[in-house]
Amino acid sequence: MSDQFKETTSKSTDDSKLPPEEVAKRIGELPSKSGKAPALQGLSLESLFKLLATANATPDPEEKNKPKPMDEYKFWKTQPVVKFGEEKTEQEGPIDSEKTVDDVAKSPRKLLPNFEWCVIDLNDKAQIEELYNLLYNNYIEDDDNTFRFQYSPEFLEWALKPPGWRSEWNVGVRIKDTGKLVASITGIPQFLRVRDKPAQEMAEINFLCVHKKLRNKRLSPALIQEVTRKVNLENIWQALYTAGTILPSPLSITRYYHRPLNWTKLYEVGFSAPLPNQTPAQMVARYALPGETTLKNLRPMTREDIPQVSELLHEYLKRFDLAPEFQSEAELAHWLLGPEDALFPVENPEKKPVHAYVVTEDDDKTVTDFFSFYSIPTTVLGVPGHDNINIAYSFYYATNVARDVPATDRTPENQKPLVSRLKKLQQNALILSKQLGHDVYNAVTCMDNPLFFEDLKFSIGTGILNYYLFNYRAYPVPGGMRKQFLEAPANGGVGTIML
Ligand SMILES: CC(C)(COP(=O)(O)OP(=O)(O)OC[C@H]1O[C@@H](n2cnc3c(N)ncnc32)[C@H](O)[C@@H]1OP(=O)(O)O)[C@@H](O)C(=O)NCCC(=O)NCCS
Repeated sequence: MSDQFKETTSKSTDDSKLPPEEVAKRIGELPSKSGKAPALQGLSLESLFKLLATANATPDPEEKNKPKPMDEYKFWKTQPVVKFGEEKTEQEGPIDSEKTVDDVAKSPRKLLPNFEWCVIDLNDKAQIEELYNLLYNNYIEDDDNTFRFQYSPEFLEWALKPPGWRSEWNVGVRIKDTGKLVASITGIPQFLRVRDKPAQEMAEINFLCVHKKLRNKRLSPALIQEVTRKVNLENIWQALYTAGTILPSPLSITRYYHRPLNWTKLYEVGFSAPLPNQTPAQMVARYALPGETTLKNLRPMTREDIPQVSELLHEYLKRFDLAPEFQSEAELAHWLLGPEDALFPVENPEKKPVHAYVVTEDDDKTVTDFFSFYSIPTTVLGVPGHDNINIAYSFYYATNVARDVPATDRTPENQKPLVSRLKKLQQNALILSKQLGHDVYNAVTCMDNPLFFEDLKFSIGTGILNYYLFNYRAYPVPGGMRKQFLEAPANGGVGTIML
């Protein structure tokens, strides 16, 4: 999963040292079946700040992204992934290509006593809510439990039910006696192109989560193997996943950037601090944006725009080494406009998980550019006057200006028209996301994002996001950071955005 909090490890609780059957009983006793988060108190501004502050306030995240010795990856060293220090080979492609569906186990491996496997049925509203509760209480958080993502049921439906989704790939673990959901891992199908090889169907793996009281019991390897088995049973052998954690071996390393939209609120919750020698008033002025959008012929995207948007995006993604290939207009419409016939329909536009806009010629029909962003509300506990922060994340975009800038030409002079267009588009994305009530706009160093960060006043974040491929050997793809992989240009090769 793709967010800047990934690298924050939770404190292990005493329960993590107990035997699983004892933990099962204790989790069963927790009154959290209703799904309401237990009341939490106390706020550490420091811990909030650590999560989303500028880089100079925190230890160097690139230091934290250093791997442990290969032999200590007890699980990953047994898997078909590129090992650290492995010699580069001429061939990019599958690592293990011998297996067939007949070789795949037909039933899951045994779990810890008192636990059982399940499919999380996302056609059932109650089970989407169960997943929401598991994630809300156990997914990404700071050390003091003061700051929590709300992957709402609406968001999960969007993220996990694109056209062609496989119910079987949403794997869960339940306590046998109570049925409580205590762990998850999810997969969705996605065609992915790595450099010039034809795109192939892979699984995008996400939402790996183990209940806090079940940590350090090797449940994650079991979940990863179970979802791998389910994916392999469909004759699919590769997967894409991201993590803040360093595992063998990143295909690409990207980094989070943050653009305050409501600086005063971020300051009040301890999320942002004034730059040296700047007063809060000066900071507010620094991040001020026009009240209204500045691009002519800019409007929300509609289903009628999808064929043109699809063409624009398809062209634009050719610029990148790692990119999705959307298989149908319905699939793209899902990702940019949200699900149709959702179990959790969204009435209020401000609550939509994804927002997309097009720029057209004067005819209001011919699409020249588009951009999109998605939305994750985040609960803040213990700050008087504020109970949440709304975070927008940059998603896919494209512009026809790129047609005149060859993908391989990254020289600043020749990229100027593209840079100038992207800045205009993204400034309007900032304005619109602010109008929709977002407090901060995040983006990773994927796509051409680094081309507009500086001018639009994004600051470098502490979060690293590593991209991994399962059972596919590929040379590193530049992640949009000058320091990573040495010769990487400022704009990188990752064109796939992971939620
Ligand atoms: C990430 C999480 C599932 C790991 O669980 P855990 O109880 O600490 O670890 P387990 O004992 O189950 O398994 C440890 C193994 O999983 C691997 N692992 C840990 N995090 C991983 C990740 N995000 N992706 C893949 N493998 C991971 C470890 O490297 C280790 O394998 P190794 O021996 O080869 O090094 C758990 O900490 C969690 O739910 N965290 C909150 C949500 C989160 O951060 N999810 C990951 C989002 S990318």
